Amino acid sequence: FPLLFAVSFVSMALRFEILGRFNRARAARLTLPHFLCATPLFMPVGTQGTIKGLTTHQLEDIGCQIILGNTYHLALRPTSELIDELGGLHKFMNWPRALLTDSGGFQMVSLLHLADITEEGVTFQSPVDGKPMLLTPEESIQIQNRIGADIIMALDDVVKTTITGPRIEEAMYRTLRWIDRCIAAHKRPKEQNLFGIVQGGLDPVLRDICVQGLVERNLPGYAIGGLAGGEDKDSFWRVVAQCTALLPESKPRYVMGVGYPLDIVVCSALGADMYDCVYPTRTARFGTALVPEGVLRLKHKSMADDTRPIDSTCKCMVCKKYTRAYLHCLVTKDAMGSQLLSYHNLYYMMQLSRNLHSSIIEGTFPKFVCDFLKNMFPEGD
Ligand code: GUN
Ligand code: ZN
Repeated sequence: FPLLFAVSFVSMALRFEILGRFNRARAARLTLPHFLCATPLFMPVGTQGTIKGLTTHQLEDIGCQIILGNTYHLALRPTSELIDELGGLHKFMNWPRALLTDSGGFQMVSLLHLADITEEGVTFQSPVDGKPMLLTPEESIQIQNRIGADIIMALDDVVKTTITGPRIEEAMYRTLRWIDRCIAAHKRPKEQNLFGIVQGGLDPVLRDICVQGLVERNLPGYAIGGLAGGEDKDSFWRVVAQCTALLPESKPRYVMGVGYPLDIVVCSALGADMYDCVYPTRTARFGTALVPEGVLRLKHKSMADDTRPIDSTCKCMVCKKYTRAYLHCLVTKDAMGSQLLSYHNLYYMMQLSRNLHSSIIEGTFPKFVCDFLKNMFPEGD
């Protein structure tokens, strides 16, 4: 694959072919160096080179096409140098399909609360020894080049959407200045795709400037960042609608940190293609299963003698083999409980992705959305 692309595309290691549309929604084939993905697409999030509790073999069974590796965690342990030496993250974690790494800054700001952003980069205290460390755009890209994911993300200056004032504008312009440092630092453009990230908070003027600035750089794909941070749904969907309308038709659009099944359906209707979120696996560890009606809490005492599967319409291994009663018994008492719920929840997200893809192609997208909403909100609220 990579060699072929080197010939036909300058500095792009991907191909994005739209197979069907319904109004603004698109279904596409996204060809990456390690896998051919179908969009709209949900991407599960891993931390230390794993999706908690699941083997890569199970992830393939579930139908996962691309997963996220966490740059920040991997850079600390085992370190990007060691991953590089051992042949890259695909080989290290035995994952033959596509990988995406985030740039790391967002994780530091959101996880550590110890991070400070200057023009040079993101400074933070090392969680290992407390020493101050600096992650620059150059360093983030160098680390991601060593890890070797199919898609790598630019270092961006992320601020919460609930903040207002000049900080939002500063972060957006800094993100634009940093993109050039990221592009200059990127040494493997024929094997790895660098995506830019649109910032600008909830301000349509700032979002517009950021989209224009990134599009001028002709990147292989674009992400919409800074969302799902506590703003109301209306503002969130409005930003997505604005950005997708301005971004080029021919490139993938990735809404970062999203999300809930409903958000994925809405954003796909607005023309977004890719999503990532810890929600399905995190909520599994708290005993919650995703079902067409919304959520099912396996901890609830009513589950204790319920012999039905989590979801009678689900075709996953867990729903074929285990009862709610058994899962109720495991949940929070044994690691197997969260593993089985993670398996089902990721299967649910992949089934949602497949349904979005095929309904857009088959022209049944409105019916799919209608049925999805009726199941989730039977009272019409
Ligand atoms: N993950 C969720 N939101 C964001 C964002 O705005 N930027 C980055 N880099 N990662 C994210
Ligand atoms: Zn299931």
